[in-house]
Formats: sequence, structure tokens, C-alpha cells
Amino acid sequence: MPEAILLRGGRVVDPAAGRDEVADVGVAEGRIVPPDALPAGALELDCSGLVIAPGLVDPHTHLRQPGGEDAETVETGCRAAALGGYTAVAPMANTDPVADDAAVIREVIDLAAAAGLCDVYPVGAVTRGLAGEDLAELGEMVEAGVRVFSDDGRVVANPQLLRNALTYALAFGEVAIAEHCEDPALSEGGQMHEGQHSAVLGLQGKPRESEEIVVARDLALARLTGGRLHLLHLSSAGSVEMVRRAKAEGLRVTAEVTPHHLVFTDADLVTYDTNLKVNPPLRTAEDRAALRRGLADGTIDVIGTDHAPHPVERKEVEFDQAAPGTIGLETALAAVLTELVEPGELSLLRAIEAMSTAPARLLGAADHGGPIEPGRPAMLVAFDPAATWVVEPPFASRSRNSAFIGRTLRGRVVHTIYRGELVVADGKAER
Ligand code: DOR
Repeated sequence: MPEAILLRGGRVVDPAAGRDEVADVGVAEGRIVPPDALPAGALELDCSGLVIAPGLVDPHTHLRQPGGEDAETVETGCRAAALGGYTAVAPMANTDPVADDAAVIREVIDLAAAAGLCDVYPVGAVTRGLAGEDLAELGEMVEAGVRVFSDDGRVVANPQLLRNALTYALAFGEVAIAEHCEDPALSEGGQMHEGQHSAVLGLQGKPRESEEIVVARDLALARLTGGRLHLLHLSSAGSVEMVRRAKAEGLRVTAEVTPHHLVFTDADLVTYDTNLKVNPPLRTAEDRAALRRGLADGTIDVIGTDHAPHPVERKEVEFDQAAPGTIGLETALAAVLTELVEPGELSLLRAIEAMSTAPARLLGAADHGGPIEPGRPAMLVAFDPAATWVVEPPFASRSRNSAFIGRTLRGRVVHTIYRGELVVADGKAER
């Protein structure tokens, strides 16, 4: 039974409506309603001191199901998402089997519907089996609801295949091809960013050029085809500058950054913490500064968590044996608030835009991203921007490989409302 809820006295931050003001918000029968139109007996939540925003949307998640259920399932990943303030996530295709046809896409959508914690917008593979040899069944997956295709975890190495994908996607309207920008030959064997720190730590490096070569090539192919290109988890200052110029030129390109690339640098690897081993690697303080500037000025459109759960036995091993990735759904909002919003590098409105409104647009997720207006589906997060907490396992995620363990963060999700229902209340999952 959908609930009727009155969120009283929160600061409503709604980028889609350009709104930032204290107001009451009503929810009934799954939708936003004017507060004075609520039925008697509505649940009243005191939201004074809280921020109310459109539910967050993660354009880059790994839910691992099917095939990697020891690390995460759709249900545990969706619960982690809801606790992180997300009402929609886009799981990547690098599952086993790969999400390269409509059957796997539908399986993930059905599993999420059964969990009832958030919406999923699965990303389909660009190439069959992520093998980089021939195109997957893009048309069939579009019919199943896919709007973004990616071989994430791997680059589409063959430029002719990427050209074909960008061209083919044009036939489906607003469909984007999302690239993992790492040249396989230049990053082969690399454990971290190639530089002074990799030399000192004795770990093989991956140069910035590994990413920048792919960004340059893909922008050239976007120009050639007119196709819609999305660049995942950018890590280098040079990439940001290329995207800035491509946008000025009018290319149809969007870009993403992760919370971990916005927070950490290669200097943090002195501890050999395998949770900081990620692809692409954490780079220098100059790169991080360029990513922050690019996010603030809109060159980088979205923040994606790249939530990448791995079981303990793939992380508690020698650094060069460890799987790349950090979980992120439960810490993303607090990391952005603590490291960027609080110090004044990013406005709260722009942070919410990059974590909700812009990714909703990318995914064609029309129910998400706001505006918070009567009649719209009730997808909301209420968070306390002043609450501090220390990141510690266990997590709602089935995995515990968080780069943020031990850090004190400011900003805590209090309530998440998904399709009008309180799926997280007072910081606890309701289902
Ligand atoms: O660190 C990463 N882990 N980066 C990726 O692109 C893939 C991901 C994974 O699937 O574990």
C-alpha cells in the first residue's frame, strides 16, 4: 500500500526546477502532491535541518548478478543504493553471462523489481561477450529498455567497431555509447598511475596517455559519426581539457568522474591499500584538481560511483594480485559533500545535479532527477548535511572493499523515498 507522507520543513534542493528553499513536500499514492492535498493521517517527518533532493541516480554501478553473487546481488546492491540515497542505478554489463542480449537485461530488471528498493537501468554490452570482436544485439536491448551501451571494464579497442556502434546507436534516438578509456597495451600489467609514487613503491605504472589516447580517438570518432559518446570515470587533467574543447566545438559528448578520483591521489597508495587499486588509477593532485574544476564548470556532467564490489579473497592479497575497484554507493554523497561542497569547491545544487538530474537525463530515466513538483513520481532523498560518521564495515553491500574505510565523512542519508514508499527511514533500510 503506497504511503502518504509529509516531509516538513526541509531545504528543498531541486536542480531541475532551479529551486533551493525551505518548503514542505507531500507524497501520496507514489507521487508528489501539494502538502495541503494530503489525506488525513499522513506520516509526518520532521525534516528541519535536512536537505530534500530528487533521489540520486548512479550512472555506473556493478551489481555482479548474474554470475558474481559472492560479491553482490541485485538485491544487496539495490539496498546499498537506497541507503546511499539512490532511487536508480545503472548496472554495467560485465556480469557472467555478459549483459549482451535482452534476456540478461530482463533478468536484472526483474530481480530489481522483486527487491523493490530502487529502479535499475541496465547498461548493455557494446560487443558480444565484451570480446571486442562483433557488435552485441543493440536493437534487441534497446527494445528491452537499454539507453546506454558500454564494455566497461574494457575499452572497445577496435576503432571500426566503435565507429559502427556510434553510428548504429544514432538510429535509436537518444542512445549513448559509454567508453572505458584505457589503452590495453599501455596499461598492461600496470598497478597504479605511472609517476614518482609508482617508482618509489616499486609498482608498475599506467601512464595518463593510456586514457588520453582513447579519449582523443573516441572524440574523433564522435566527430566523424555524429554519435553520442559518454566517457566513463575520467582520471586525467588532459582528458578534461579535451572534453572541454569537444563540447565547445559542439560534439555530443558527456563525461563522468567518480567520488574516489575526486578524493584520492596516487600518493595515498603508500599504504598499499588494495581498496585504492582502481581502474583507471588514482592520479596526481593536479589531475584531481582538474577533475574538480571540470565537474564544477559542467565539463564533466555526472558523478558515477563505479561501485565495484569484490569478495575478500580478491582484495586481501598482494597488491599486484588484487582485483581493481572500490565499492561506493553508501559513501558517494557524503564523500562529495565532505570533500567538495563543504570546502566551497562545488555548490550543493551542482552536486545534486551531477548525482541525480544529469545522470537521469543520460539514462533516459524520466521518473528520476526531479523536478520535485506535484504529479511527478515521488523519488526523494532527505539527508543531514551536518551529521558526521566514520566509514566502517559491515556495509549493506555484500562486499567491504571500500576505499573510504576509516574516513570521517560529513553528510548522512536519513530517508529515501522510492515510488512514494519509505525504503530507508531514519538511516535504516525498511526492506
Ligand atoms: O576499478 C574498476 N573496477 N574499474 C572498472 O572499470 C571495472 C570495475 C570492476 O568491474 O571491478
